[in-house]
Amino acid sequence: MRKILVTGGLGQIGSELISHMANLYGKDNIVATDVSDANVAAIGDIQFEKLDVTDGESFRRLVEKHKVNTIVHLAAILSARGETMPQTTWGINMGGLYNALEVARVTDASVFVPSSIAVFGKNFPLDNTPQDTVLQPTTMYGVTKVAGETLCNYYFDKYGVDTRGVRYPGIISYKTLPGAGTTDYAVHVYYEAVKNGHYDSYIDQGTYMDMVYMPDALRAVTELMEANPEKLVHRNAFNIASMSLEPSMFEKSIQKVMPEFTLGYDVDPVRQAIAESWPNSLDDSCAREEWGWKPEYDLDAMTVDMIENLQKKLK
Ligand code: NAD
Ligand code: SER
Repeated sequence: MRKILVTGGLGQIGSELISHMANLYGKDNIVATDVSDANVAAIGDIQFEKLDVTDGESFRRLVEKHKVNTIVHLAAILSARGETMPQTTWGINMGGLYNALEVARVTDASVFVPSSIAVFGKNFPLDNTPQDTVLQPTTMYGVTKVAGETLCNYYFDKYGVDTRGVRYPGIISYKTLPGAGTTDYAVHVYYEAVKNGHYDSYIDQGTYMDMVYMPDALRAVTELMEANPEKLVHRNAFNIASMSLEPSMFEKSIQKVMPEFTLGYDVDPVRQAIAESWPNSLDDSCAREEWGWKPEYDLDAMTVDMIENLQKKLK
């Protein structure tokens, strides 16, 4: 049975992944950690420990104390925030990952680490971006994700640490707000639709990026973690795709549920430049072939679910 420690577990993904894994593996087999306990209410009665991932000694002690055999390493600074503090982003993203891999090496644990569409940047095919192509990111976040994928593959090749990961597109969810990435507009548009009936998008009309709804994003983690290792040609990290979207597509989809909703534009040049350096759409055929990735939500199904849940949450 898996005993799983999650780092950065109170963020957008962790706060939902922890309940998803508690349902699959039992709540006593999950240990949530984060540098801050501000959002601890989000994980209910799952055990929680404070952990700064840059502190390797405390990291190892917690893994040994709870007899952990699987580390899900989520702690990171995302793209837009990362550009305001590149040096700190390198320190947390790379220092934390190095500690996760070293702890896994000495305790014989396996490691799941999400990568990102931010690994792409220049000189790659924007449409149907292949699994194996040029990785020349333009953000510090992307630099840490390329270096991180490489380091995870190194620990597998050199030490046999079972490392696996997906390149997440933008993740859309209603439970915990995203942590200052470039794709956050795709979450904010739903919050503002429900709160005010209007949203000004900082990403311009016609700028496509891949997005995935949280329930599919959660399944990707546990399905890849449980995949037959003999079938994995790739490990770190798989392109996964679900929906290639641009802002006016959200407008039309939301208007099917809330006809009075309006969308405007107030483009932020920094996040717009990052968005334009990322794929319009990903080729996820390797994930489909090697471990059976298959998203379930399309835009309209996600819109109905987001609005229904946000209307309950924000009333
Ligand atoms: P988030 O910003 O919502 O959460 C990150 C968490 O890490 C926060 O709770 C924060 O408190 C914690 N953290 C920050 N510094 C820490 C430290 N030094 N020690 C311990 N914890 C620390 O991010 P998220 O969206 O949940 O992302 C989780 C992972 O998924 C990240 O690796 C991110 O790059 C990746 N990812 C996310 C998306 C997305 O759209 N959300 C897309 C691609 C990849
Ligand atoms: N959603 C993330 C970001 O925008 C992608 O890694 O930073």
